[in-house]
Amino acid sequence: MCGIFAYLNYNVTRERRYILEVLFNGLRRLEYRGYDSSGVAIDSDLTTVEGNRMGSPPYDAPPPLVFRQEGKIESLVGSVYSEVDAMDINLEEPFLIHAGIAHTRWATHGVPSPRNSHPQSSGAWDEFLVVHNGIITNYEVLKETLVRHGFTFDSETDTEVIPKLAKFVFDKARDGEGMVTFSQVVKEVMRQLEGAYALIFKSSHYPNELIACKRGSTLLLGVKELSGETSGTLFHDVKALTTNGKPKELFFSSDLCAIVEHTKNYLAVEDNEVVHIKDGSVSILKFDYGKEKPASVQRALSFLEMEVEQIKKGKYEHFMQKEIHEQPHSLTTSMRGRLKENGVNLGGLKDHLKSIRHSRRIIFIGCGTSYNAALAARPFVEELCGIPVTMELASDLLDRQGPVYREDTAVFVSQSGETADTLLALEYALENGALCVGITNTVGSTLARKTHCGVHINAGCEIGVASTKAYTSQIVVMAMMALAIGSDRISSQARREAIIACLSDLPSKVTDVLKLDGEMKDLAESLIGAESLLVFGRGYNYATALEGALKVKEVALMHSEGMLAGEMKHGPLALVDETLPIIVIATRDACFSKQQSVIQQLHARKGRLIVMCSKGDASAVCPSETCRAIEVPQVADCLQPVINIVPLQLLAYHLTVLRGYDVDQPRNLAKSVTTQ
Ligand code: UD1
Ligand code: BG6
Repeated sequence: MCGIFAYLNYNVTRERRYILEVLFNGLRRLEYRGYDSSGVAIDSDLTTVEGNRMGSPPYDAPPPLVFRQEGKIESLVGSVYSEVDAMDINLEEPFLIHAGIAHTRWATHGVPSPRNSHPQSSGAWDEFLVVHNGIITNYEVLKETLVRHGFTFDSETDTEVIPKLAKFVFDKARDGEGMVTFSQVVKEVMRQLEGAYALIFKSSHYPNELIACKRGSTLLLGVKELSGETSGTLFHDVKALTTNGKPKELFFSSDLCAIVEHTKNYLAVEDNEVVHIKDGSVSILKFDYGKEKPASVQRALSFLEMEVEQIKKGKYEHFMQKEIHEQPHSLTTSMRGRLKENGVNLGGLKDHLKSIRHSRRIIFIGCGTSYNAALAARPFVEELCGIPVTMELASDLLDRQGPVYREDTAVFVSQSGETADTLLALEYALENGALCVGITNTVGSTLARKTHCGVHINAGCEIGVASTKAYTSQIVVMAMMALAIGSDRISSQARREAIIACLSDLPSKVTDVLKLDGEMKDLAESLIGAESLLVFGRGYNYATALEGALKVKEVALMHSEGMLAGEMKHGPLALVDETLPIIVIATRDACFSKQQSVIQQLHARKGRLIVMCSKGDASAVCPSETCRAIEVPQVADCLQPVINIVPLQLLAYHLTVLRGYDVDQPRNLAKSVTTQ
């Protein structure tokens, strides 16, 4: 969804072209989140811009250049360079200090169009410019008030009230006391706003300054010192680092992926903080609504444990392809340091295991693929922990206001840790007194910060919108969680040891199953023209059926349904004919014979069958020569979903490429859905 990027260079000369390229590159790093339009704002030189407007600006600084475009970032890039050329703006002009802002928008209020894109403006001369992630819930009331004060609105966005409100506050303060600082203006604006947001302000009244603030949405500050001796040190005092006048570059983003190639020193801005960059120094004020005056706070920078390679495609054509093939590695990093011979060590849970064991039930809560991962974990969590597990799609729990009690452990599963529905469900569970546990891939995410405890899945940055490696790592982490919770049960000691042994071997089994790539491409070729695809699973692999079908639906844009095989005869059987392709998951586990019977029933109705089975079982499970088999390595039954999903991920990938669709940014979808 929407993405923010800002770049400020201080005491280091950067040409206008360089600054633009840093901003464009930041936007490219945010692309994967999903967007439909984008924009940037940089400084001009007065003379060239004056020629394009009437009168002169109400400030001394050069007015900004604002560019906004619908569609892909490359169309913004093209239009910026041609406009700059037409305006005769010097791209080689150097700036010793400069503040630029940029944004990718995923439409919520108003269609994708240049006027609805960000930066949004205060009006003529762009005195205040704002990029915004999130939603302002009281924008209609604010708009009415501003219209009464003579403001006119150009966009349909909720965001436009923010820069206009800033101008209103600025004009009013200047008419009264004469002087007002940038942070005073922003603090007053923040006081009026309701909803969830991360904002960056740029203003020609405060040249070369940037202000960032947030409530709800994620915002990060990256700090890169250019003088050498302190860079690489893990923890700095943010103020000490940034008040020393040394040349530096500062970056704001809603996503670490846009920062990692510049610096690993970062700070996660917290709710109600106003971060002000002026003269190369960073000051942070924290709002406390009970108190009149916000307090100044000192924060330490964190060190980002992410490699630049993670945000590049390397030898692969698409991120989804890279992430599928990376799974032996991502699973290894998810388990690193956590598996012991007779048990597991999850640092994030060890102090809470006792409370979890005493809970009356475990509620798994998530959306999309993360929900499916939790569903895959449910059978073994029940088995190893002996605690009833219920499943909740986050939005449905909220719609129903389903009962959550103090005696419950609520486990929130989310790759991004920023999904709005999941976070709202978390707030709900916290209010109801449940112990809240997070399973997330994103260190520093809202989910990681707001849960009582949890486990980072450490799968590495996932960029393809369709989640693949995060899914398998989530299952493995939940398996380790179940082993840890159940570790006091003597009766299941042998079972736990067998699972632990299998976990250690899982990355090499995933390497084996990835060898099916060519076969899955052949299968995809035979399915290009199909209108629909069904996937039947049960037991441990009910989730695999749902997740495999979701992958095909998301990226290959083909109708696909995952179904519980036990329900087949209660409805879906009516769909079966010679044309509809049906994948049946029939790997060896307690449900094997039931699945064999499902295959027979489908065969009897001339179903177009594809069977996923354990290695060596093809001739036994395929009822005819026309039935295709996908043979996969066999692992412990409860971990089989980690293996079985891989061929289906490959199938979805190849189907998408063959059908000519966008693999990494499927139509209408966003990686991280930060609105309800
Ligand atoms: C931690 C370190 C890891 C280090 C290891 C060595 C972090 C992020 N992880 O990993 O770099 O190698 O110790 O001992 O610094 N948490 C939540 N909610 C969530 C996820 C996590 O509250 O959704 C909390 C955990 O309860 C824990 C902390 O975040 O307090 C870190 O969790 P995790 O990274 O899983 O812990 P370790 O594996 O111990
Ligand atoms: C979005 C993504 O809908 O959010 C899905 O497109 C994802 O791929 C879902 O599964 C949940 O996201 P998260 O980050 O909470 O796991």
